[in-house]
Amino acid sequence: MNMRTSAGDLGNLSPKSPRFVRNFRWGFAAVVAVICLLPLTLESQGLKAATNPAAPSPAVSGPAGGPIPLADALGVHFVPGSSSTFEIARDGKTYLVNLADHTIQEKDPPPTSAEAAAHLVPAHSSSPDVKPGAKIFADNCANCHGQGGKGVAALKTPDFTNPAVQAVLSDAAVTKVIREGKPGTEMPAWGGKLSDAEINAVAAFVKSLGPGKKPEAGAPGAGTPQMAKVYTPADDYLFSMPTGRRLDRHGLYFNFTHRFVYGPAFSGTGGGDTLAGLDNFSISSFGLRFGITDKLSVSAYRSPSLIDRPIELGVTYNFSDEHDGRPLNAAARFSVDGQNDFGKNFTTNFELMLSRSVTRRAQLYVDPTVSLQDRRLVTKPGSLASVPPDAPGINTFYVGVGGALDIRPTVAMVAEAFPTLVNGPELGIHRPAWAFGIQKSVLRHAFTFGFSNSPGTVVSQRAGTRASFLGQPWADTPGGLFIGFDLMRQIY
Ligand code: HEC
Repeated sequence: MNMRTSAGDLGNLSPKSPRFVRNFRWGFAAVVAVICLLPLTLESQGLKAATNPAAPSPAVSGPAGGPIPLADALGVHFVPGSSSTFEIARDGKTYLVNLADHTIQEKDPPPTSAEAAAHLVPAHSSSPDVKPGAKIFADNCANCHGQGGKGVAALKTPDFTNPAVQAVLSDAAVTKVIREGKPGTEMPAWGGKLSDAEINAVAAFVKSLGPGKKPEAGAPGAGTPQMAKVYTPADDYLFSMPTGRRLDRHGLYFNFTHRFVYGPAFSGTGGGDTLAGLDNFSISSFGLRFGITDKLSVSAYRSPSLIDRPIELGVTYNFSDEHDGRPLNAAARFSVDGQNDFGKNFTTNFELMLSRSVTRRAQLYVDPTVSLQDRRLVTKPGSLASVPPDAPGINTFYVGVGGALDIRPTVAMVAEAFPTLVNGPELGIHRPAWAFGIQKSVLRHAFTFGFSNSPGTVVSQRAGTRASFLGQPWADTPGGLFIGFDLMRQIY
């Protein structure tokens, strides 16, 4: 539009054009003014009107005192979750007005009804889960993400049908973004607004827009239908046992584990004085994990001097994930640890981390682990700086078994045990190491508080118990359980 039409031009051009332009501008300015002056309540009402086209339009008092459907009369619709963008309908077209950027763009032309049907409700879908997801998407997300999730340029929303966009969005990432929003962007958090089931359904729908994942194109039962039944672990550990969960591509994760092994939590003379053992020395280990791809990750982890100062380096490959419609989660890890900061007493470990969702709220874990040249778990004698003694290497095999049960959307009960099947007694292990705890996830963090009889958190020490570590034969009974906690943070 030429806004600088001069008086001279007016004579030459069709007189209707500039007047229309001016009228449009005034009309538009009036609309903006009305919107700015409307009380906030209208915004929430308008939000409802925008999310649910069938809902009655918001009625507010007009100048005459009677109720008028103002937003509808003006063709204005608020975009749910946005405080800077609204839609305005003119001549059968819809425009997105962004007050923050001072931009106006035409919204994607509405798809033909056949297209819409194809996008929103796959015609030959064998999946019952995508349909409700499509409806939730149309009601809550299409305003910003476009019909069929193709994205809206003015809002910088990604095109979910683009393979490149889908490639970097893991199922877990989609669910997470929907639940928690994207801070610093217009993407709102839906955590409190949609139920877990609705979030899973709409996440499944978003993923179904990707190539090869369309329910009608993919293998029957592949991918999305299962997602609603798939458990997503909050941490890389239950307590000391690895969940084998997939990391985000280029994701960086910190893992802290604290074990207060020097005082039992439930018994002992000083229990009260040392706050159930929490006042005692902690064995505090610390590690980093990095996702090279969403399947391949590397890790480095160190435990302190009290427990022989091992450094463990590992490589993990996740070759099957239930989020992809596979029947099982499976990952393999190869790791080597050396005591005295990777200086001596090396152990080589092969772990298979298998798990399967029982429901969306519960998962079972089995981790068979072979450790070659493992060492007996004893606390290191002498000063903190002294070098751990040489110890004979013993080949061993243990099977970690565990479970997680979500008792609330972000809180899980976890339990695990590590029965050593080969060469337990040779390593001073007479009873299985075991632990239980409660795990809470908050944004990109997980916190686990629990009780255990095993001071070790590296692979080679995990099956060892407190009794042999401290030389206290009674220390593996329930009265000898000690307190510990884990902290996980995803940095990127
Ligand atoms: C107020 C507008 C708005 C609404 C409503 C909205 N989104 Fe978004 N969403 C955005 C924006 C903007 C982005 C891009 C953020 C960025 O810059 O990475 C985004 C990003 C996303 C992403 C991808 C994040 C990534 O890491 O690339 C997903 C998935 C998503 N939204 C899903 C949804 C779903 C599902 C709904 C409905 C329940 C929804 N959005 C509703 C604005 C919105």
